Amino acid sequence: MSELVSLTRDGEIGVITVNNPPVNALSPGVPEGIAAAIEQVKNDDSIRGAVMIGAGQTFIAGADIKEFGKITSGQRKEGINFLDVIKAIEDCPKPTVAAIHGTAFGGGLEVAMGFHYRVAVPSAQVGQPEVKLGLIPGAAGTQRLPRLAGVAKATQMCADGNPIGAKEAASLSVVDRVVEGDLLQGAIAFLREKIASGEKPPKTRERNDKLGDEATNAAIFEAARAQAKKTARGMMAPLAAIDAVEAATKLSFDEGCAREAELFKQCLFSDQSKAMIHVFFGEREVQKIPDVPKDTKLIEIKKAAVIGAGTMGGGIAMNYANAGIPVIVKETTQEALDRGMATIRKNYENSVKKGRFSQEVMDKRLALITPQLSYDGFEEADIITEAVFEGMELKKQVFGELDKIAKPGAVLASNTSTLNIDEIASATSRPEFVIGHHYFSPANVMRLLEIVRGRATSKEVIATSMSLSKRLKKVGALVGNCYGFVGNRMLHQYGREAQFLVEEGAAPQDVDGALYKFGMAMGPLAVGDLAGLDVGWRIRKEHAHLQKPGVRHPKVADQLCEMGRYGQKTGAGWYKYDENRNRIPDPEVDKLIEQAAAEQGIKRRAITEEEIIERTQYALINEGAKILEEGIALRAVDIDIIYINGYGYPAWRGGPMWYADTVGLKKVYERVKQFHEEHGELWEPAPLLKRLAEEGRTFADFDKQK
Ligand code: NAI
Repeated sequence: MSELVSLTRDGEIGVITVNNPPVNALSPGVPEGIAAAIEQVKNDDSIRGAVMIGAGQTFIAGADIKEFGKITSGQRKEGINFLDVIKAIEDCPKPTVAAIHGTAFGGGLEVAMGFHYRVAVPSAQVGQPEVKLGLIPGAAGTQRLPRLAGVAKATQMCADGNPIGAKEAASLSVVDRVVEGDLLQGAIAFLREKIASGEKPPKTRERNDKLGDEATNAAIFEAARAQAKKTARGMMAPLAAIDAVEAATKLSFDEGCAREAELFKQCLFSDQSKAMIHVFFGEREVQKIPDVPKDTKLIEIKKAAVIGAGTMGGGIAMNYANAGIPVIVKETTQEALDRGMATIRKNYENSVKKGRFSQEVMDKRLALITPQLSYDGFEEADIITEAVFEGMELKKQVFGELDKIAKPGAVLASNTSTLNIDEIASATSRPEFVIGHHYFSPANVMRLLEIVRGRATSKEVIATSMSLSKRLKKVGALVGNCYGFVGNRMLHQYGREAQFLVEEGAAPQDVDGALYKFGMAMGPLAVGDLAGLDVGWRIRKEHAHLQKPGVRHPKVADQLCEMGRYGQKTGAGWYKYDENRNRIPDPEVDKLIEQAAAEQGIKRRAITEEEIIERTQYALINEGAKILEEGIALRAVDIDIIYINGYGYPAWRGGPMWYADTVGLKKVYERVKQFHEEHGELWEPAPLLKRLAEEGRTFADFDKQK
């Protein structure tokens, strides 16, 4: 046996303990250890049955994700055959019980299903979340789960990857008993009952009574496929998972396992799974800030305040309330305050209606939000977030006021989306406490929080912001201070190309359609209509003096605004909208576009989907490379995480920089060079892109060598 798995005794019962902290993952050595323990249980006449339990906080939480990359990169050849290990557990002639606390996910649940019985504490969770890494269960999960939970539930669990709690698992016979009190003692008592009953230990793989009939199953699979195509658009893993469960209903157990293995392999070696594993590790990587040590002192956040209850302020206040942190919201007029609170209430009511949480939870959260017109109580706030109109003078005025009111040591955050954090900080006597907290709309929904570091921002304030982002259930990414920071600075280039493509010959729905097909949550022009075209228009007007003469800039969006077409809120923008907010292409917009093209001497032409993808994606990537070289983003993976969590970029493409790696930087660079020749200085290739392409390297590899 290995050090990772031990076998001890409780009288006639063998107790197998898996001890591979922190989550008892199935790293090399663990399955071997379990197999050896089971062998010993089998051969030792004084043992009558065995319980397996996880040491520490959980049962086996799943596979060791690092191992997947080793397999696909050829670093690791064949590992131990999990299927055989689980079969050996199942074939043990003495009854065995898996005792589950914490999580039995993925490989953890697959191992547990090999045991004859499963018991769990009420707080335990079980699931097959492999699809979240672009994979499917690969150790017979898709074959055993339908035999326990039934076809419909197993299909759902393997396709959406969401776990279920112990109670539900018990109602589905995935778990045989929920144990209140001590888990190990409960499991041993359960096992002794089974031994006394003389029941033949049931093998999950031989239980076919829940596999249903063909007609019912066909309807289940059809519905599941339709659902997966909607909620996991573009992803292959959920469909593969459904195929594998379907195989369980049509083939023998062994043939079903072979089919599962084939599908698993296809997923494992796909770009999609590699991208999603990159994202999984990326979310952990972005938390590391090279010059801010892990043990940096944190400012304790017990009370918060927000200034402005508009689109963003309201959502930010909800984030605090949702995390159980009391928050004051200040406005300038009663009317604005009432409007803001009404929106917050409506958002909560919608969640209650959808069953996300109870009325009681809503009431508690609302009670944590104090709306007011004064600065009363601000002196007690540990953090104050400003979300007033975007304008430097106003922001400086607000920060000047905060400087007088806030207690020493309070974090002063601005939600500005474009303005210079250093200049805002200069309105205070304590720039080291000033930082950007750039949320994304809707702020209570979008996971991204760009944390903008100013020149003077202290390490404590950065570390506190990073830690706070977790408490607020956000993904915090630290970025440098420049116009648009990381996300919007790149978006600017992307949006510009989308509009140029329209002027050059593509219809708005062609551009949006191609990018939607690529996997973006929405096309850029439709996003513009949703967010309000007037927002960018106002900013452009303010910055008009900075526009370089002779450099092309998009014309149509401004013209749409001049016509009062601000997007959905005015019923028309790039598209027309009906009463249900359905997008309808508008011939009037086509005319406007043709006119704008004619005025600029652009000869309109047919534009392929490929060009739409290249122009928009490579614009993102080229700007991303500049941002990386300037140190505005810490790593390429930070940019990926920002795009996936803030801009609807498909996780299965791994983010724009990872996508560039999958295309190949040489190809990306060649096209950027061509675009540079054709379209001029806006396409100046980023020196870093050029260098990496010429050296045959990738952004991922740049991150590693940093
Ligand atoms: P908004 O116009 O919806 O809300 C601003 C609110 O601030 C208004 O309700 C206004 O009455 C209030 N306000 C103005 N001066 C105030 C003062 N001195 N004291 C208290 N309240 C005051 O604007 P929105 O969209 O919420 O934007 C706020 C900030 O967030 C801006 O800096 C914006 O650039 C930024 N932001 C906006 C995003 C968006 O998608 N709307 C996304 C990310 C950042």
